[in-house]
Amino acid sequence: MTAQRMAGIGRGAPVSIVVDGSPVEAFGGESLAAALLAANIVQLRKSPREGGVRGAFCFMGVCQECAIIVDGTVQQACLVPVHDGMTVTLRGSV
Ligand code: FES
Repeated sequence: MTAQRMAGIGRGAPVSIVVDGSPVEAFGGESLAAALLAANIVQLRKSPREGGVRGAFCFMGVCQECAIIVDGTVQQACLVPVHDGMTVTLRGSV
C-alpha cells in the first residue's frame, strides 16, 4: 500500500476513506491519524488563532492537535478508527 506502513504486520480489511474529496486507502482497525500519516498527509488543520499549520503530535488523545472534521463533526483523528466511506475535511481551522 505505502512505504509508511511496516511490513509483516497483520491488518484489517482494506477500506477507502475520502479526504477533502479524494479517496485514501486505509485498513480497518487503524486510527484515522495513522491512516493519514501512512498516506503522507501530515498537515491536518490550521490554528484558529494564528493560522499556523497543525498536525497529529501525541497520537494518544492528549494534545488535541489532530482535531478535524470527521463525518461532519469535530473529532480527534488519533482516537477514531477508520471505516469504509468515512469523510474527512482537513482545510480551515477547527
Ligand atoms: S494527536 Fe494528540 S490528541 Fe490526537
